[in-house]
Amino acid sequence: MPSVTPTPTLLSLGGALALFSAVAHAVHPVVVEGQDFVNSVTKQRLMIVGVDYQIGGESGYKPATKQDPLTNGEVCLRDAAILQRLGVNTIRVYNLDPAANHDDCASIFNAAGIYMVLDVNSPFESIHRLNPAPSYTKAYLSRVFAMVENFKNYPNTLAFFSGNELINDVATAGANPPYIRAVTRDLKQYIAKNAPRSIPVGYSMADVRDVLKDTWNFVQCDLAGETDSSSDFFGLNSYSWCGDASYKSSGYDVLTDLFKTSTIPVFFSEYGCNEVKPRIFTEVAALYSKDMTTMSGGLVYEYSQEANEFGLVDVADDKITLRTDFDNLQAQYNKLDLSLIQATNSSAIALKAPKCDKSLISSSSFNTTFKIPAQPSGVADIIKNGLPNQVVGKLVTVKETAVSMAVYSSDGKTKLTGLTLTILADNATNTPGGKNTSAGTGTSNSTTTTGGQSKSDGNRLTAATAALATVFAIALALL
Ligand SMILES: *[C@@H]1O[C@H](CO)[C@@H](O)[C@H](O)[C@H]1NC(C)=O
Ligand SMILES: *[C@@H]1O[C@H](CO)[C@@H](O)[C@H](O)[C@H]1NC(C)=O
Ligand SMILES: *[C@@H]1O[C@H](CO)[C@@H](O)[C@H](O)[C@H]1NC(C)=O
Ligand SMILES: *[C@@H]1O[C@H](CO)[C@@H](O)[C@H](O)[C@H]1NC(C)=O
Ligand SMILES: *[C@@H]1O[C@H](CO)[C@@H](O)[C@H](O)[C@H]1NC(C)=O
Repeated sequence: MPSVTPTPTLLSLGGALALFSAVAHAVHPVVVEGQDFVNSVTKQRLMIVGVDYQIGGESGYKPATKQDPLTNGEVCLRDAAILQRLGVNTIRVYNLDPAANHDDCASIFNAAGIYMVLDVNSPFESIHRLNPAPSYTKAYLSRVFAMVENFKNYPNTLAFFSGNELINDVATAGANPPYIRAVTRDLKQYIAKNAPRSIPVGYSMADVRDVLKDTWNFVQCDLAGETDSSSDFFGLNSYSWCGDASYKSSGYDVLTDLFKTSTIPVFFSEYGCNEVKPRIFTEVAALYSKDMTTMSGGLVYEYSQEANEFGLVDVADDKITLRTDFDNLQAQYNKLDLSLIQATNSSAIALKAPKCDKSLISSSSFNTTFKIPAQPSGVADIIKNGLPNQVVGKLVTVKETAVSMAVYSSDGKTKLTGLTLTILADNATNTPGGKNTSAGTGTSNSTTTTGGQSKSDGNRLTAATAALATVFAIALALL
């Protein structure tokens, strides 16, 4: 699906440029096959190399003015260029307004070869974990379906989260599990009837170890009569690896052992313990090692520094300053060779979900009824006919690739120059292996590479911009 149409101006500039501007740049949609996310065309497994993206935290969601983390194209261009060079292939965005237009941002991330995993809920519209029944309404589900309308046409919409941390302790594992499956069912039915392709739907869990296995089993198991209600994947928000931990001391070995029989993809929907600062991200090497291919990667929490201090960058007004955490994460990503772990595993794909049964549940606090709440009245009709009059997104031409907002390296003083979004070749996904973005080190050099895969090298500077960066670095050094 071509998304860049040559403009007359560009065409008139001559052959090479016209050719470049005509290059379509849509990522391939991703499907679930057993334990893996798989690129629907290349058939390669997608290991999520991701960052959670929500500048301003919850307060970045401002429905009164139709603003959310994906509504400002200039901001998205800046951040997509930064994340592209960091090496990520996926972002997760938590709070989105289905009445807002996300075309610029979705198209920019798509052009960068970056997928989006999207939460359908918001701080004001979600199942209420302390009393779920009254919050499961037609009005709530209409909001959820409007999210599908808004994002269903972007090829880089990787997946939807039907819920996030509804169970956040043992007590909340009583009433909530059936509602997790109910919203998942409703979303999957809506997508099947009203979206151009199947978009995976899953749950993102808080790391409550006492009910981890129960939750995973509850959402993946096969329930007769309610087959739509099982999750297509399972996200775990995990902060067990702190500082210079190890595969064993972090408990990653236990997780790997637990999930090796998973019949759906499992990944960290959040990770990056901040008990030791700055973070050194040694868990990256473990997560993408052959030991952990049972998992599908993960998303680092989170892009921007907020009050809870998990940021990779500082944001002040429109100015970004990379943090040491950013450099450390990039150094870890740069050491990865994902091509070694991109093969799908046919025996893992062939695993069949267990039948839902009390015997799958071990905690006495966990719900064992497997009775999924009926859809509120009127919802079946909405699913059948589609929600009318919604903002339905579509890819648009990415016209601007040069970042105009200020971005500083982690020394806080050196302004990055020549920061540009690289529009990837058609069908390419961004990969780690980008250049060191901390300018002012004198290392910007058009011939410098750091061992990324050459197939989709969008995270590298073009020769021209790198040369420009070198000139600026020299100019700065002279000042
Ligand atoms: C299971 O969940 C349903 C729906 O919330 C609730 O009515 C029921 O009381 C729960 N059972 C237990 C044992 O918590
Ligand atoms: C970037 O380069 C600087 C200077 O060479 C170095 O100190 C820093 O560790 C590098 N960062 C990464 C992520 O490689
Ligand atoms: C493939 O998956 C099966 C089932 O989970 C597992 O036993 C096996 O170790 C996996 N093989 C590789 C190479 O990861
Ligand atoms: C992109 O994928 C489509 C679908 O497989 C294919 O027809 C097309 O040739 C691909 N384009 C490039 C540039 O690889
Ligand atoms: C860039 O790198 C090449 C190859 O390492 C080297 O020959 C050249 O001197 C470098 N240029 C600058 C400006 O550092």
